Amino acid sequence: MNYILENARVIDPVQNIDSVGDIAVCDGLLADPAKMPADTERIDLKGKVVAPGFIDLHVHLRHPGKTQAETIHTGTLAAAAGGFTSIVAMPNTSPAADNPGTIHFVLTHAEREGVVKVLPCGAMTKNLEGKEMSSIGSLKAAGAVALSDDGRCVQDHQLMRHIVHYSRTFNLPILDHCGDLLLEAEGVMHEGEWSVLLGMKGMPSAAEELMIYRDIILSRMTNWKIHIQHVSAKESVAILRQARRDGIRVTGEATPHHISLTDVEIKRFDSNYKMNPPLRSEEDRLALLEGLADDTLTVIATDHAPHTATEKMVEFDYAPFGIIGLETAVQICMTELYHKGVLSLPHLISKLTKGPAEVLGLDIGNLKTGNPADITILDPDRETVVDPDQFKSKSRNTPFAGYRAKGCAVGTIVNGKFVYKAF
Ligand code: DOR
Ligand code: ZN
Repeated sequence: MNYILENARVIDPVQNIDSVGDIAVCDGLLADPAKMPADTERIDLKGKVVAPGFIDLHVHLRHPGKTQAETIHTGTLAAAAGGFTSIVAMPNTSPAADNPGTIHFVLTHAEREGVVKVLPCGAMTKNLEGKEMSSIGSLKAAGAVALSDDGRCVQDHQLMRHIVHYSRTFNLPILDHCGDLLLEAEGVMHEGEWSVLLGMKGMPSAAEELMIYRDIILSRMTNWKIHIQHVSAKESVAILRQARRDGIRVTGEATPHHISLTDVEIKRFDSNYKMNPPLRSEEDRLALLEGLADDTLTVIATDHAPHTATEKMVEFDYAPFGIIGLETAVQICMTELYHKGVLSLPHLISKLTKGPAEVLGLDIGNLKTGNPADITILDPDRETVVDPDQFKSKSRNTPFAGYRAKGCAVGTIVNGKFVYKAF
């Protein structure tokens, strides 16, 4: 299907475009509007924004292994409904994506039943145990786009040093979940005023900070890219800011929940507020906003982490960490970052396109003529209320039920095909 999207505000941070114009799609690729036949279908998008397809660097699809919580089909449907055209699938599945077979499995299912593009991430260590390096070369050959042990953090610095070296050889960025296990001491929430008041075991910010320091040192030693996942603490933002000023190749992401919620919510004892890293203090939240504004943090990623109601419906202490995010991320970011004046619209869009594409080192997340037509259409002012009953995701573990948002994705196009349309 060939068409021209017209009258929208077109924003492409990679090409520095922000103007009202036309975007043409021909045979699934972005084309020159001037070279389309006169009878090409025209879709009027006055008042909407056309952006490169959003990329989520941090998604748990639970397939293989925990398909009662999510599958590649439902997870990609949720991604499409949230405005994402490419998602990076974390390797903490069962079996883990620590071998080429599991990468093939993910790619095969994505091909068969995926609604958006699935980019598999390989595990850094066998079964994410942090003991033995996985076969990084064969993960790359099988199609992995990055390496991570997300959910866990390799504690052995010597092993981590070797992993970073190997990942440089195979040109794979590292996406690291940073947490020192001894300092975390099996905590369940942020260590601070609220953990003391509630009598719950705390995870100090220092646990995250310490491992980010470690990664900064290893990135400097090896001159290789390390991307810090879900940065949550103000100290982490400060050290990343300094490291980037020093020219070290570290990047960082913030999640929609860490920029919009704090640990005060834990007083509800609702496990939909339990995730790792935990919600921290208001000061931490404000530091994340500053980090986004000054590009210490170049990426927004969801850490979409589906869990079944049965798993989550236990005492706070026993519930698994994680919340879903694909179908609320854009709404939250538009409301909290754009409408509240933290980021301009092009700047916000860069965190969902240019930033993640740079981490991956891939020519995606832009509207260059000739590239696959992966496009996200936004209605910047549409008001919605989050209703988990409407989610495409198999899971419902979100703290954002009832959240009033301004701005959302109203169209998602993958290879020229509408996979979501709500206008
Ligand atoms: O909250 C989290 N949930 N944090 C992680 O790092 C892993 C994730 C999961 O897999 O459930
Ligand atoms: Zn994580």
